[in-house]
Amino acid sequence: MTSNNHDTLNTQLQELERQYAELRSRKLNLDLTRGKPAAAQLDLSNALDGILDGHYKLADGTDLRNYGGLDGIDEAKRLGAELLDVAPENVLVGGNASLTLMYHIVLHALHIGVRGPDSAWARQGKVKFLCPSPGYDRHFAICEELGIDMIAVPMDDDGPDMDRVEQLVRDDPMIKGIWCVPKYSNPTGCTYSDAVVDRIARLATLAGEHFRVIYDNAYAVHDLVGEPPRLASIMQACERHGTQDSVIQIASTSKITFAGAGLAFMAASKANLDSFKKHLGLVTIGPDKVNQQRHALFLKDRAALNALMQQHAAIIRPKFDCVIDQLEKGLGNRAMGRWNEPRGGYFVSFYTRPGLAGEVVRLAAEAGVKLTPAGAAFPYGKDPEDSHIRLAPTFPAIGEVEQAMQVFVICVQLATLRRQLSG
Ligand SMILES: Cc1ncc(COP(=O)(O)O)c(C=O)c1O
Repeated sequence: MTSNNHDTLNTQLQELERQYAELRSRKLNLDLTRGKPAAAQLDLSNALDGILDGHYKLADGTDLRNYGGLDGIDEAKRLGAELLDVAPENVLVGGNASLTLMYHIVLHALHIGVRGPDSAWARQGKVKFLCPSPGYDRHFAICEELGIDMIAVPMDDDGPDMDRVEQLVRDDPMIKGIWCVPKYSNPTGCTYSDAVVDRIARLATLAGEHFRVIYDNAYAVHDLVGEPPRLASIMQACERHGTQDSVIQIASTSKITFAGAGLAFMAASKANLDSFKKHLGLVTIGPDKVNQQRHALFLKDRAALNALMQQHAAIIRPKFDCVIDQLEKGLGNRAMGRWNEPRGGYFVSFYTRPGLAGEVVRLAAEAGVKLTPAGAAFPYGKDPEDSHIRLAPTFPAIGEVEQAMQVFVICVQLATLRRQLSG
């Protein structure tokens, strides 16, 4: 660095320190950590309340209020089938959280066995899962709690690095599964390409027995743009490769209707559903069929679902635009970081220069802006590059998103410049 350069950077740093001190003095209290819908989005589904109007009986005589119907009512299976692009008979409808289903799916395969006790993964040794990263921290937390070793795999713009995935799976029969969020991935926003979907469907031909892809399509219909990317059908790919048992698809209405009072879905082969139901039948006598029928009436066809999702997009798109605008304004030359521009989903991923994510999160916290802890999107909370930060703009009001992003940009600039001048 020439001394002229050094002087210019020092002047810039002093100015940033001044701006940062001024921000701190404002005692802000902002939060970009929560990947949850805003109240205005929840309001869109208030018609769920009262929609049954006292009609608790289905045409086949089922009393929605009573026990039973372990895999859900047909009316709700149709909704799951729509979301997951499968036949209704391949759908199981759970309670309000797809995480509950995923937890039990993994627990069942690990200790009970997908095809009887001898097939339990844990009987064969130390179980491992592939974790495309950055990924969803709660997927990784399930592995951690259940004692499954996690192997991070890089995420590309079109999905996981499949050369690496295939090599790992081929070489190690104790790798029993992989987490996937195929559309608007949490948190990178990418949608898997047709080629990636096909290679995922083919993994079971390389992997050890009873390998499972947990294919969490949480953002299947959560488009922000007019011409959304199209996700290829994984079940059709599985049919081509004869691997239908290897993929368990997941979805929920958490970010469609009420996040805390929606429906979760699992789609799988008949053999997988039959095996899982034996386990589920011990966990519950049956799901909340009242809520299932409320959802079936409220989201009665594809047109109703699409119209609702467009209303969601109208509320949250301006917040995403605001995040991207602030990043462009403050960091537009990409010298201090890069980011994705999501076409759907709930998150923006920002990448600082290596080694600075933790520092940016700390600086932001001191200036009153809470960010998801650096590393949270990686197995064991460890980002090897200390570079990734997940931004979640849906919940705060747009004015808060704007303020928080102004602080964020200054923190990135400050952390980068301080490091540059100290190095
Ligand atoms: C990828 C993914 N899966 C699942 C969930 C949680 O879903 P649910 O509310 O159905 O448990 C989330 C929530 O952020 C998510 O991002």
